Amino acid sequence: SAPLRIAIAGLGTVGVGTVRLLAEHAPTVAARCGRPIEIVAVSARDRLRNRGCDVSMATWYDDPVTMAREADADVVVELIGGSDGVARDTVLAAIGAGRHVVTANKALLAIHGVDLARAAEAQSVHLAYEAAVAGGIPIVKALREGLAGNQVRRVYGILNGTCNYILTAMGETGRDFEDVLGEAQHLGYAEADPSFDVDGIDTGHKLALLASVAFGRPVDFGAVYMEGIRRITAMDITFAEELGYRIKLLGVAEETEHGILQRVHPCMVSQGRPIAAVDGVFNAVVVEGDYVDRSMLEGRGAGAGPTASAVVADLMDLAAGRGAPTFGVPADRLVGSPAATIDTH
Ligand code: HSE
Repeated sequence: SAPLRIAIAGLGTVGVGTVRLLAEHAPTVAARCGRPIEIVAVSARDRLRNRGCDVSMATWYDDPVTMAREADADVVVELIGGSDGVARDTVLAAIGAGRHVVTANKALLAIHGVDLARAAEAQSVHLAYEAAVAGGIPIVKALREGLAGNQVRRVYGILNGTCNYILTAMGETGRDFEDVLGEAQHLGYAEADPSFDVDGIDTGHKLALLASVAFGRPVDFGAVYMEGIRRITAMDITFAEELGYRIKLLGVAEETEHGILQRVHPCMVSQGRPIAAVDGVFNAVVVEGDYVDRSMLEGRGAGAGPTASAVVADLMDLAAGRGAPTFGVPADRLVGSPAATIDTH
């Protein structure tokens, strides 16, 4: 049958990973979703840069917004990043032109998710973002599909690879935060503004998205309590180890009598827990539901391969006609009591 035509906005690490995966696995992708996926347009900042991937089959656009509006594509893949500006304009242009959107942009969805989901529904298109939360871990799908029968009590996890790398390296080498930070940035997983990683903001973005899908509430990033890892010392980690704990930056969303509480902060996790053993750039998400009890998914939370793996899964869903409401239910059915907040005074 006719190919699914896609336009890719942004050819950084994840964009290049996506182009490569689609080229390398073209036959299996087509077999599994019933039709080929064809890249018909691309847009990035520098046309001449050698990225080590072939996009010669695609029409080049200097401006992603123009591409989103005009390219002959069924889907626009937004891999630019940032909660506003050109990323948001690209997504809105794509939706306005009646195209589906696949994005890895957690900041954009954490802040504008409900509005964008509404806009997509009004145009009868889908807005998919598996790649935005915990990279290669298919947690959005797991919550929306495999665990959909449960009343979720709590969802929590290690959602930022950069922080987990830093904490792991501090524990293994006894070096302090500032020493290890630069090393983590060299790995290429850090956000453009590294304070998004180390101050817990990136974890907060992802947590707000998970909480929305898990509890069927509107995304409420403004209600997330966030504390990062800047003040953790190598000594803290050593003492925690001696007491039988690991220090992990966790994002936790749970149902309380006052509403959904969303919090990000370093936690002492008992060494006996599987999540305590999740080291380096790996992420893990634990879902506690009334029927499933507890389920944990672990995997790489960042990087070209894992994130491309999630982008392509969303594209395959669209190719196969398996698009779903952005947050599991139509945007107008996302309802809930006001969010609970932590009083820090
Ligand atoms: N900066 C993020 C991380 C990238 O370190 O996990 C993936 O969202």
